[in-house]
Amino acid sequence: MEFIKVTEQYQPAIALIQLNRPKELNALNPQLMGEVRDALQQLDKNDEVKVIIITGNDQAFAAGADIKQMADKSAIDMQIMDQFSTWDQIRKTKKPIIAAVSGFALGGGCEFVMTCDMVIASETAKFGQPEIKIGTIPGAGGTQRLTKAVGKAKAMELILTGRFLSAQEAHFYGLVNKVVPVEMYMHKAVELAKEIAQMSPVAVQLAKEAINRSFETQLDEGLMFERKNFYLTFASEDQKEGMKAFIEKRKPVFKGK
Ligand code: CAA
Repeated sequence: MEFIKVTEQYQPAIALIQLNRPKELNALNPQLMGEVRDALQQLDKNDEVKVIIITGNDQAFAAGADIKQMADKSAIDMQIMDQFSTWDQIRKTKKPIIAAVSGFALGGGCEFVMTCDMVIASETAKFGQPEIKIGTIPGAGGTQRLTKAVGKAKAMELILTGRFLSAQEAHFYGLVNKVVPVEMYMHKAVELAKEIAQMSPVAVQLAKEAINRSFETQLDEGLMFERKNFYLTFASEDQKEGMKAFIEKRKPVFKGK
């Protein structure tokens, strides 16, 4: 791995992927995103890992797709290379992904963050889709996910002007879960991950799948999907244990079965 670091330093149940191209503000070139895809696939299969945190550094989560690498490409080059197909792994990952964001989360960086499941931001975080300023538009989901997150009028303003959202504004619009001082954002992300890691991994995965369905389907279909997954949790030992423990007023012991 040249452009990312993968560690499990906080808890055995939590894995951390750190984007690591600091000189280029973590610009997301195809090799880096290939490494992210491979790491996510591996962590998704590893039973020891319950929650994944993805972060950059204090200055930048990521300042977008790598402009230098794309600048001279033709439309046909872009079509053949289809670099964003690698990104699909982020949304295909079954385990919850928390983005711990500080500094710039722009263009593909903002789209990457919005594809994660939850976001803890430092007060210095800046979100935006400035592609319009370099003569292009978001290409990794920005027009869809930002619109769903902040509403049509604000998404139009942000995408058509390239203006940035501060961390506080992003919190106001529901793009991030929590804003904390810069020295706290990793700590808070780990705290959230630990809380989720205590839950039944079966139920967590089914809940995540159903929530994501609400973005992909009409409400009727989403509700049916959610209901089916709710009923399906009753096939797990963890649901039996969880409900039994509640009734017996004790902490549940989940096995992931
Ligand atoms: N691609 C390639 N290199 C980048 C980059 C990017 N997206 N963003 C920053 N860099 C590089 C800079 O070129 C610079 O490298 P050099 O030192 O070799 O010149 C280095 O990172 C540091 O950047 P700056 O000197 O520009 O730092 P700054 O603090 O003055 O400005 C910034 C920071 C406002 C984030 C500015 O770098 C910037 O505007 N970056 C581009 C943001 C952008 O347009 N992102 C969208 C990309 S397109 C996209 O993402 C499409 C999509 O939908 C996926």
